[in-house]
Amino acid sequence: MSDATSFWSPALRGLVPYIPGEQPLIEGLVKLNTNENPYPPSPRVVAAIRAAAQEGLQLYPDPQAAGLRQAIADFHGIAAGQVFAGNGSDEVLAHAFFAFFRQGKPVLMPDISYSFYKVYCGLYGIDAGIVPLDAALRIDVAQYRAPCGGVVIANPNAPTGTGLPLADIEQLLQQHSRSVVLVDEAYVDFGGESAIGLVNRYPNLLVVQTLSKSRSLAGLRVGFAAGQRHLIEALEVVKDSFNSYPLDRLALAGATAAYEDRAYFERTRAAVMQSREGLRCDLQELGFEVLPSQANFLMVRHPAHDAAALAAGLREQRILVRHFRLPRIEQYLRISVGTPAQCAALVAACRALVSDQ
Ligand SMILES: Cc1ncc(COP(=O)(O)O)c(C=O)c1O
Repeated sequence: MSDATSFWSPALRGLVPYIPGEQPLIEGLVKLNTNENPYPPSPRVVAAIRAAAQEGLQLYPDPQAAGLRQAIADFHGIAAGQVFAGNGSDEVLAHAFFAFFRQGKPVLMPDISYSFYKVYCGLYGIDAGIVPLDAALRIDVAQYRAPCGGVVIANPNAPTGTGLPLADIEQLLQQHSRSVVLVDEAYVDFGGESAIGLVNRYPNLLVVQTLSKSRSLAGLRVGFAAGQRHLIEALEVVKDSFNSYPLDRLALAGATAAYEDRAYFERTRAAVMQSREGLRCDLQELGFEVLPSQANFLMVRHPAHDAAALAAGLREQRILVRHFRLPRIEQYLRISVGTPAQCAALVAACRALVSDQ
């Protein structure tokens, strides 16, 4: 008799994988649990994907993703060679952990942050050097002084939503000038300050962004890294040792078109930021404490109501939010910013729950 894992590589047995937020196939749900954009992608993206589907799917896509990298580089004022594109920023992050952080020393990261960072550490045998957020659940860069094999932070952080000023990022870069500092900017377009403008000054800076949030393309799976050429080359070595074609023809076409429709990007991200501020006021009026957010979600707690009970109550009304059963944040809910109608539905449901003693 063999046990269920007897065929597995030994390294797999202790792995704790990431658990993605629920994606239920139920119609009419108000889905505010995975920080997707409530608006669809630009019509130009859909047209580009349609056109790409008409032609050339029998051929492999461009393994260099040259057109997309040029579009991203033009948008950010850097060179195409300073951009690496991958299948969602999750894949880009995974390659970066493999490429830069297997140094035999811990990689510093916040105790509360994107939980995939610890998963990549487990996958690649990297020690996670956990640095607690301060009492207000903010990253305090002064706490990141220990010798390390690298630093990874999300800016704005997730799931708190709070951003760091670039001066703090520069402090990390200077302090750890011999290690890679990875700044994950998944949510930066909703009011944060991007460090991409610093890449030419800091050879140890790698910035990662995604098209899943501010470009409304979570379903297409596209993310990228920006950094100096020597860092991008390392990512290319990992990619070409793993999967030469992480981005298919539809993804390349749609993602490139997303960068070509700047007006749509500006309009939709402004709408999300405006809804976020409205939602913040409405929730505060109901007695919720709301962490400062430069992201497309709010991290909230109610002093008189248990977070798990609130999440369950919302769910009964077909509204999904994210509740993490984790130390320090188990009394918080993370609520993605929806359309004005979705936000209104959430606020009405919360009002009923908090006044229903
Ligand atoms: C902080 C952070 N980084 C990266 C990602 C991954 O994004 P994707 O793989 O969709 O590009 C997420 C997704 O929610 C995130 O919250």
